[in-house]
Amino acid sequence: MKFRLGCALVASALFAMSGAVSAAPIVVKFSHVVAEGTPKGKAALKFKEVAEKKLPGKVEVQVFPSSQLFGDGKEIEALLLGDVHFIAPSLSKFDRFTKKLQVYDLPFMFPSVAALDKFQQGSVGQELLNVMRNKNLQGLAYWHNGMKHLSTNKDSLKRPEDVKGIKFRIQPSDVLEAQFRAVGANPPKMAFSEVYQALQTGVVDGQENTWSNIFSQKFFEVQKTIAETNHGVVDYMVVTNAKWWDGLPADVRKGLKEAMDEATTFGNGLAAEINASARQKVVASGKTKIQSLDKADIAAWKKAMEPVWKKFEPGIGKDLIDAAQKAGD
Ligand code: LMR
Repeated sequence: MKFRLGCALVASALFAMSGAVSAAPIVVKFSHVVAEGTPKGKAALKFKEVAEKKLPGKVEVQVFPSSQLFGDGKEIEALLLGDVHFIAPSLSKFDRFTKKLQVYDLPFMFPSVAALDKFQQGSVGQELLNVMRNKNLQGLAYWHNGMKHLSTNKDSLKRPEDVKGIKFRIQPSDVLEAQFRAVGANPPKMAFSEVYQALQTGVVDGQENTWSNIFSQKFFEVQKTIAETNHGVVDYMVVTNAKWWDGLPADVRKGLKEAMDEATTFGNGLAAEINASARQKVVASGKTKIQSLDKADIAAWKKAMEPVWKKFEPGIGKDLIDAAQKAGD
């Protein structure tokens, strides 16, 4: 009797153990809108690689690039509904959730990605990762792309007066809208996946983006001129659904956070190189003119866009603007 009971206990213990071992991994979906060869595309793949190595059998990370799963219009809603677990929208795309992140869109705020990074790594930048928690969005990291440039289907793109009346596609950001209105342009908001066709068919005349996006989306093939304005940044916040994140087993959350940190270091370390190589390929294609700008040209753009700062100061807060500006000094 005792022997039988012992066997039953051992068997049930073994069953429980095997059940634990063979429990299905947690499927973690990461959706984004850019190509795999871009800084964000590569960082997302790195995250998958490291997370699955750190948490063998416990997580399966599925990465969906190029708006395959959700495009700009849907990805934040999908995250809030739990249909996807990580996304990395550009900071311009959180406008509906907080005014604080508008600081990143102010024209000529950051002279370089290094200045941007310095601000983000400081206490104010780190606090901003939590600014949308009341909307169930938890920021986990900043991922870099690079500086933005202007492109149009026109021959001249040197001074603000060259873009009067021109239609520029923008991301869904009120600051970007005001920035283009300040130079007399007309800026429709549009999802990233629609931009190439809109440029090709003339629905819009121009757009603003980094070299890696201009190259990987082939915008340069349907734009006559690209001016290296460096007037803003495309940078991302990796966000997750706060309730889902808080409800993960502690070891899984820890492993995913460590994987996120490694992917961040990896991707941010590559961003400048990826953009430089994309620029080179665009130049080598000979398909578009690269308009160089001198100091006076840049000063003219800066002056024309300056009123945008005052307009958005009440929503963003002067302290935040000052802290961001200080990083570039
Ligand atoms: C854009 O919409 O132009 C960019 O934010 C796309 C991206 O994710 O880099």
